[in-house]
Amino acid sequence: MFRLVKTHVGKVIGDLYVFRVDDVETKYFEALWYIPEGITYNAYLLIGDKVVLFDGWKGKYSDLLIDELSRVVDVKDIDYVVIHHMEQDHSGSLPKVLEANGFKATVVAHPMVRGMIGSFYGIKPKFKVVKDGEVLKLGKYSLRFIYTPWLHWPETIVSYVEELGTLISCDVFGAYSIPRSLFDDELSKDELGKYLDYARKYVITVVGHYKDYIIKGIDKIKSLGLDIKVIAPAHGLIWRREPKVIVSKYVGWAEGKPKDKKVTVIYDSMYGYVKEAMEVLIGELVKVGAEVKVHAFTEDSHPPVSDVLSDVADSQVIVIGVSTYEGGAFPEILRVAGLMAMKATYRKPVIIVTAYGWGGIATKQVKDLLTKAGYEVIKTIEFKGKPKEEHIKDLKNIASTIIT
Ligand code: FEO
Repeated sequence: MFRLVKTHVGKVIGDLYVFRVDDVETKYFEALWYIPEGITYNAYLLIGDKVVLFDGWKGKYSDLLIDELSRVVDVKDIDYVVIHHMEQDHSGSLPKVLEANGFKATVVAHPMVRGMIGSFYGIKPKFKVVKDGEVLKLGKYSLRFIYTPWLHWPETIVSYVEELGTLISCDVFGAYSIPRSLFDDELSKDELGKYLDYARKYVITVVGHYKDYIIKGIDKIKSLGLDIKVIAPAHGLIWRREPKVIVSKYVGWAEGKPKDKKVTVIYDSMYGYVKEAMEVLIGELVKVGAEVKVHAFTEDSHPPVSDVLSDVADSQVIVIGVSTYEGGAFPEILRVAGLMAMKATYRKPVIIVTAYGWGGIATKQVKDLLTKAGYEVIKTIEFKGKPKEEHIKDLKNIASTIIT
């Protein structure tokens, strides 16, 4: 089955190679985030006086990785395996790679990794703990290890190959999707723009909960004054033309920097009343020049929450339209609001529009959830049954006041 996937082997710079597998099989990354665009896993191999493998692929692609590595090196000759991060999309292939290597290689990682390898895979390879900032000199090449906790787990580190000016960054600076090339300089401007949308979706869904650590981690790397010519992440494109593009985008998404006049409208509509109100507001927003992204839960469709969160990350304002259901907010809206409160904790303005039949509790539920997460609810509109003339008037009036 996995033979459906494509693999790519390429030279990054100097003696550094990339091994990429295009995972078109995973539909829900982490069993949670819908990714019809797919995802890649990138491992790297440095062949100097010592042979160093950086990370790996998801476990199901282990044999494939060993086959591909064998095109470039005898797997038995690998001296070190650097584990930047233990999530199984990168470490899953470790047991089989070490087995093929005869367990000759030393695993190099954060101290937490030793126990995690045992508990995840029941193996006990040779192990070298690296300290934050430690440099491992391996003849021709020197590897500097930098702790970047919570990017994405507490044990996460990144490596800098000093002689190549290359940061091997694992999850950091990664993205969803399967770019048609390995490198940023081989994509058109339009392709890069689309890729960055997938990167934003990746950041907010995977690392969103730890987004303050994105800023801390990037500040820390910048403070080291490294001459970074290439950024080589474990998902998606390798940045060698303009690595600063992905760095500044990551900072912007972590900060929730809004795109000019972008408004995300999220609503459910069971029998059309909320939809009627939303269409009035959306129409007015378009008239005042807003870029409106609409995610509607209706009897015809349910949008993926991953797409909703991705739009929230760079919106100026969020509008939530919610029906009252079983004495509370509509479940799908509660789910979205709950994931916003977990993954996208921004100080952005929110407008809540609620329909109810006999009791108005939905507004409070959504408001409490989002306010605790840092959002500022600037306006609420509630109507019983259909929106009335005064509600329509209110909706028309607010459009011009929320866009700056
Ligand atoms: Fe790509 Fe957190 O693993």
